Amino acid sequence: MCAKVLILSGSPRKGGNTEILCSRFAEGACDAGHEVETIRVCDKDIHFCTGCDYCVKSGKCVYKDDMNEIREKMMAADVIVFSSPVYFYTISAQIKALIDRMVPFYTELQNKEIYIIVAAADPDESMLELAVESFRGLTRDCMEGAVERGVIKAVGVWEKGAVESTDFPKQAYQMGRSV
Ligand SMILES: Cc1cc2nc3c(=O)[nH]c(=O)nc-3n(C[C@H](O)[C@H](O)[C@H](O)COP(=O)(O)O)c2cc1C
Repeated sequence: MCAKVLILSGSPRKGGNTEILCSRFAEGACDAGHEVETIRVCDKDIHFCTGCDYCVKSGKCVYKDDMNEIREKMMAADVIVFSSPVYFYTISAQIKALIDRMVPFYTELQNKEIYIIVAAADPDESMLELAVESFRGLTRDCMEGAVERGVIKAVGVWEKGAVESTDFPKQAYQMGRSV
């Protein structure tokens, strides 16, 4: 069955490690016959949530920006890939801003299949766990029926493109292929 796969690429660094892993995942998912779209989150206009609670009563956000389009794409997707570089042990501000803006609609995102990709300089895999858990605070604890299908923790990659000389791109491709 052809699935709709939405990849949220959460690094601001063009051609960086997270982006490389996302594109390998996309290649794998395309090769498996799925419809794949990647959103480079930092290219989008996403206002910070201000906690005004307007959405709690109305279901809508006061800010009219690219989150409207992202909301539609997340709703339509069968599979969502959350990705980020590790910044001070957690996820990037760009992808966190997107997640915070999901308050008006996260309860409507039901039964999604989830993949998580994180990249970090640290060679110790446990140091990436907080970033993964930050995504899980949404996917495991808030998104009804979401099933986590795979996680890539790309350790030991500091410089742009360093991940190319590791096995992680292959793992990302295979993960995409397995969707
Ligand atoms: C602001 C900032 C904070 C970072 N914090 C960490 C960190 O806490 N732990 C770590 O292992 N690497 C840290 N790094 C390194 C990045 O996670 C690493 O370079 C990663 O490969 C970047 O992924 P990207 O190329 O997709 O942007 C940090 C980098 C930046 C720019």
